[in-house]
Amino acid sequence: MNVPAQSDPGASSFDSLWTSLLPIGRNGATGGYRRFAWQDADMQCREWFRGQAESRGLDVERDRNGNLWAWWGSPGPGAIVTGSHLDSVPDGGAYDGPLGIVSAFAAIDLLRLRGVRPSRPIAVVAFSDEEGARFGVACIGSRLMTGELGRERALALRDDDGLTLAETLTKAGVDHGALGRDDESLARIGTFVELHVEQGRGLVDLDRSVGVATSIWPHGRWRFDFTGEANHAGTTLPQDRRDPMQAFAGTVLAARTAAASRDARATFGRVLIDPNGTNAIPSAVTGWLDARARDEATLDDLVADIGAAATASGEADRVGVAVTSESYTPVTTFDPALRDGIATLLDRAPLLPTAAGHDAGVLATAGVPTAMLFVRNPTGVSHSPEEHAEDVDCLAGTDALASVLADLAC
Ligand code: GLV
Ligand code: MN
Ligand code: MN
Repeated sequence: MNVPAQSDPGASSFDSLWTSLLPIGRNGATGGYRRFAWQDADMQCREWFRGQAESRGLDVERDRNGNLWAWWGSPGPGAIVTGSHLDSVPDGGAYDGPLGIVSAFAAIDLLRLRGVRPSRPIAVVAFSDEEGARFGVACIGSRLMTGELGRERALALRDDDGLTLAETLTKAGVDHGALGRDDESLARIGTFVELHVEQGRGLVDLDRSVGVATSIWPHGRWRFDFTGEANHAGTTLPQDRRDPMQAFAGTVLAARTAAASRDARATFGRVLIDPNGTNAIPSAVTGWLDARARDEATLDDLVADIGAAATASGEADRVGVAVTSESYTPVTTFDPALRDGIATLLDRAPLLPTAAGHDAGVLATAGVPTAMLFVRNPTGVSHSPEEHAEDVDCLAGTDALASVLADLAC
């Protein structure tokens, strides 16, 4: 972003926040971000958060679940909380998560420039491990806070190197003794507003910079384990093979068909192959299904169909199949009165549903009055280095967030 500093102090504040965060965790070869929970890049992002908060005179705290908070005013009940997450998917874009945090700090700068004096505390939050790229479960920080993810299960989660979350937190110097539902932090949130880059083209089609979320599709993650027999790629006759890759491939194709027939989504985006040799039939293949649909009945039906297709493929190929549910998020409907009030405030901003998951959804499900703002994404591409939002739309998003915060906090 390149905005002349003197012409618009709001723009220059956004610009300096954005450009200081941009280099952290970017892979030089792909241009994508690899900010995985509690690894170096994530730790640097956390330092960046702390530095930005402190330079604004905001008190910083890390809660029992590793989420970071920056307070304008004394922490207390009725706070207006905004923010998002700093971690990324593998080779993710710059905007998914960070845009919400940069916009939050920039919105506070704008409010101060405008001489706004909130009567309630305002907080910026960075939730831990929203994407679940490292430990497989999404929104770990917010789910722990609301109690939706239990302490024991969380601590036992393992990354691809076999390290548990408990070991990881200890290594990062975080005491995990008090991990789990955090009523004190929850009770302070009067309203949560998350600003996020749109992950679709709804706003492009409507020719608007900023929209307001209505709901999040129900979604979840399932692990599919296919177990066969390792053998030689050249000498093993077709009828003698027990090839888990074959059964996995049949399941991937069936998932696509099952999703298309329901206008739903089914994606196998991650796979582990054992032993992963070019000239060996694998002994085991594990694939993770991400499935989403308009309503829970459709989602349940879709996943049941894909499970049945996996079983049939396994039988045909004489391969063992096991399906394990790893996470499930029911449909989320954001607070209608809050949503409509914000849309009216923002010049009748359009209302949009989304099929992407967010910490805002976790909080809304836990009963916190919650809203989301979306900022236009010209291509709709997300979870990719190509993810983008134009500078002018980012500034419109910050301005919209500042108006919402002022409206709620004054
Ligand atoms: C998060 O971005 C998700 O929708 O999985
Ligand atoms: Mn994401
Ligand atoms: Mn996100």
